[in-house]
Amino acid sequence: MSIGTTQPHDSAHLHVTGAARYVDDIPVPAGTLHLAFGLSEQPHAEITALDLAAVRAAPGVVAVMTAADMPFANNASPAPDPEPVLAEGEVLYVGQPIFLVAATSHLAARKAARLAKITYAPRPAILTIEQALAANSHFEGGPVTWARGDVTAGFAQAAQIVEGSLDIGGQEHFYLEGQAALALPDDQGMVIRCSSQHPTEIQHKVADALGCAMHDVRVEMRRMGGGFGGKESQGNHLAIACAVMARTTGRACKMRYDRDDDMMITGKRHDFTVKYRIGADQDGKIVAAEFTHLARCGWSPDLSLPVCDRAMLHADSSYFLPNISIESHRLRTNTQSATAFRGFGGPQGMLATEAAVDHLAHVMGLDPTELRQRNYYAAALGAARPQTPGDISIKRKVQTTHYGQPVEDFILHELTDKLQKSADFVARKAAVAAWNSTNTTLKKGIALSPVKFGISFTLTHLNQAGALVHVYADGSIQLSHGGTEMGQGLHRKVCQVAAQVFGVDDGSVRITATATDKVPNTSATAASSGADLNGMAVKAACETIRGRIAAFMAAQEGCPVDSVRFEGGQVIAGDSTRPFAAVVKQAYEARVSLSSTGFYATPEISWDRIKGQGRPFFYFAYGAAVSEVVIDTQTGENRILRTDILHDAGASMNPGLDIGQIEGGFVQGAGWLTTEELVWDDAGRLRTHAPSTYKIPACSDRPRIFNVALWDEPNRVETIYRSKATGEPPFMLAISAYLALSDACQACGPHWPDLQTPATAEAVLAAVNRARGTP
Ligand code: MTE
Ligand code: MOS
Repeated sequence: MSIGTTQPHDSAHLHVTGAARYVDDIPVPAGTLHLAFGLSEQPHAEITALDLAAVRAAPGVVAVMTAADMPFANNASPAPDPEPVLAEGEVLYVGQPIFLVAATSHLAARKAARLAKITYAPRPAILTIEQALAANSHFEGGPVTWARGDVTAGFAQAAQIVEGSLDIGGQEHFYLEGQAALALPDDQGMVIRCSSQHPTEIQHKVADALGCAMHDVRVEMRRMGGGFGGKESQGNHLAIACAVMARTTGRACKMRYDRDDDMMITGKRHDFTVKYRIGADQDGKIVAAEFTHLARCGWSPDLSLPVCDRAMLHADSSYFLPNISIESHRLRTNTQSATAFRGFGGPQGMLATEAAVDHLAHVMGLDPTELRQRNYYAAALGAARPQTPGDISIKRKVQTTHYGQPVEDFILHELTDKLQKSADFVARKAAVAAWNSTNTTLKKGIALSPVKFGISFTLTHLNQAGALVHVYADGSIQLSHGGTEMGQGLHRKVCQVAAQVFGVDDGSVRITATATDKVPNTSATAASSGADLNGMAVKAACETIRGRIAAFMAAQEGCPVDSVRFEGGQVIAGDSTRPFAAVVKQAYEARVSLSSTGFYATPEISWDRIKGQGRPFFYFAYGAAVSEVVIDTQTGENRILRTDILHDAGASMNPGLDIGQIEGGFVQGAGWLTTEELVWDDAGRLRTHAPSTYKIPACSDRPRIFNVALWDEPNRVETIYRSKATGEPPFMLAISAYLALSDACQACGPHWPDLQTPATAEAVLAAVNRARGTP
């Protein structure tokens, strides 16, 4: 009923009143133990002696474990290669857990964890991208290369070629709720309650650690206070630690990282250096592009390989690049294991290409927006229409990506035009130029950047989802699905789907915690596909139940089954119009099953990651943003003055939630590109491990004028009510802020400013000086 309308987040009231319960708020049984890890102080070393006597003797300590005490698997890895929960004889980064303390309070455990006497025999550490390259320290044996066309021949046709290098910073997730898990041993096995995007993986890893089957472990996850990719795999360690300690002691065990531990232990966004070489012909058509992605992956593979794949998959940004080659180095270093973060490598891949395109425009003296539009993929012709196989009624020029996927839904030509008008781009560009001609200290910049983001997990089998729906005899509906709620509003959207199918209001539908015993074998809630996948699974389950009720009513009323309607809280069959609840009660009494599972698998996708070929994405989500900034050329300080966004949510199921995702994604992306800077010292220690030194955006950092609108056109492929995913794509709209800062630097002098990221005040100042030729 409410599909297409703005409805609040399912827990909005609980969030604002402080009543929403997170893992740390769950009342625990008497005798619950609190856990803490003892951490490595060395980036790479052999542990020659581990004296834990003082730890064991500390007040409140009940048990201490090392790798040798792990009863079964000591493995938290989401990838085929193992990743130890507790270090096995050697440490590979500063912050790596070495031992586990269980104590009667959180503070007692933390204090005790500091008392170990550890003797290290240091080994050479590889900390930086340069060091890793020099040492040939790669995952997968060496670089991965994908190419299309002939780059050498392409460059031969170029009228202009530019070359450069862009440093792209990492990013701390800074979910407001830190990592947390609680293990409750029972006589059947283990119950885990945790803050995780991937309950099924927690179940799997805990089962391996306990030497039991998956059916012995039940994982329940009600909500996260933010995940952003940082809770896809990084919560495994805590859940395993709690489960193993609970099994050993027979007591409930809880663990939560304090913020500094969280930042020291867990992985972040991958920082990259991207080397580019890009050439265009006289008309500004890009004829060749060459990228070298150098990604710092940290000490274990974790999700780095698919992250780096997605960076390569987005190296085209929104442009048809006929001749392109991408070499991707997945570098093993003695730092935190970089992990999933909103966009999953896509932002790094796109940012480098956008910087290269800007560089080209600068050198060719072309308007960057113009250059972008000239190189856009060919427009999709015709309005949205259902895809019927073999439909050749519309012949259109379809260009393919460098990985062989046809771009059939490209709407950026129209979308860019519309945004330029609504943002008054041309006039404001002129106003910025006028400002810059009369002001020397403060310079302004303005830029437009497009987004094209592929939707689906690249690992094809993950694109499936399940649901379990119950209709109770009083007409109330309870549903479970495999997705997790981290603030994005997934539960509300899925609830709207159920309400729509049964023709009732949202209030009749209760969403429960995600639980592995209700819906099994789930994928992580990630790749923005939560609503696409789980919405479809819930729809299927609801339609099964609705079909049974309809058949029952049709037989009762002597009308055709497909004439039975569910609308406005009523069931209309033949001459009868009765409340849904009354019909349900009658169906129950007639012994009609009112419970069903539902399942969905995304159609039409296939992907060969070794060759880098296929159709990995079901569709693309699009958007564009115009940002205007001002910089202080004496200090490098800067701020975003105004941002206008036009974003493609397909036929939005809930415009309010989608706009929230767009605003939040943009601000988070702007933080990544401007103020958020991670600093490691020469000893491999992360020095920015608290909000005192790591600057995430505050409310006052958002653009003061912030206009967000939705592109109003249904998805061309059949997704849930023809909506599009909005979780990650808007993050990359923040590239407009980086390009605007670069534009402001370009206004300071004739040279290419080569602005690096994060574009902190220092980086902006350096770029201003480069533009002026006064380093
Ligand atoms: N929005 C909020 N409020 N909190 C989050 O943790 N995670 C993002 C995005 N939006 C996140 C968020 C990430 S990384 C992903 S992949 C998607 O939400 C996941 O949810 P979805 O698939 O339901 O969009
Ligand atoms: Mo999002 S990085 O796919 O969890």
